[in-house]
Amino acid sequence: MSAQILDGKKIAAEVRNEVKQEVLKLKERGITPGLAVVLVGDDPASEVYVRGKHRACEEVGIYSLVHRLPAETSQEELLNLIDKLNNDPKIHGILVQLPLPDRIDEKTVIDAISIEKDVDGFTPANVGNLIIGDKCFYPCTPYGCMVLLEKAGIDLTGKKAVVVGRSNIVGKPVAMMLLSHNATVTICHSRTKNLAEECRQADILIAAVGKPEMITGDMIKEGAVVIDVGINRIAPKKLVGDVHFESAAQKASWITPVPGGVGPMTIAMLLKNTVEAASRK
Ligand code: GUN
Repeated sequence: MSAQILDGKKIAAEVRNEVKQEVLKLKERGITPGLAVVLVGDDPASEVYVRGKHRACEEVGIYSLVHRLPAETSQEELLNLIDKLNNDPKIHGILVQLPLPDRIDEKTVIDAISIEKDVDGFTPANVGNLIIGDKCFYPCTPYGCMVLLEKAGIDLTGKKAVVVGRSNIVGKPVAMMLLSHNATVTICHSRTKNLAEECRQADILIAAVGKPEMITGDMIKEGAVVIDVGINRIAPKKLVGDVHFESAAQKASWITPVPGGVGPMTIAMLLKNTVEAASRK
């Protein structure tokens, strides 16, 4: 089998277009959705992500304000800013770009974000609601994975889904979302025995481990849907996923490329969550 490409760039553009229409409707009601992005320090990768988020907001008509704070900012100063943003009626979504400098306790900072404005979906309260199945914000990268599956017309009911990776940002939430769509879910991680055998059971395989090309074609069931969340830079101009694309594409029915798969979906879903937060007002 030779896989069809699950084109994240194209689907993300569709989502951004939908968001643009929703923004217009909100503006007719006198609401301009607003996103505050907080960046502490000068990590070059974070700077690139933040610029991308800001530009994407502008394109769809979301008001976006980037707060760039110096690396020596204290935790108290950061918490004060979050408190201000929590109480700012022009701001509907707050995103604190991670990682934060070591001196700052990430958990305390994330927990300070108001649940109504947690468009990243990282606060403990939001994660709790996700597990219970209550109203919540889906974290953006797992949300992007789910929209890719939906747009490809893949019915998850009764399917065996295997998630490789147990991070709080991707592995755990995507497993919960697959479960809520009636898949039978296995989460694999660095201590899993016989990973290849587990992966070969998967109708849907989500790779989110951060290890370049670790999942190879021999670990994939014929006809499986493969979603590769990994973005690994292996040379100055060469990005690869967690999946070895060429060998996996021989077995899969659908596969996401890297770049151009899950990556573009993450920002699109952030925009969607911000509009959702504004429309709940
Ligand atoms: N750093 C890397 N990815 C993310 C993300 O999705 N959200 C935030 N806040 N920080 C990140």
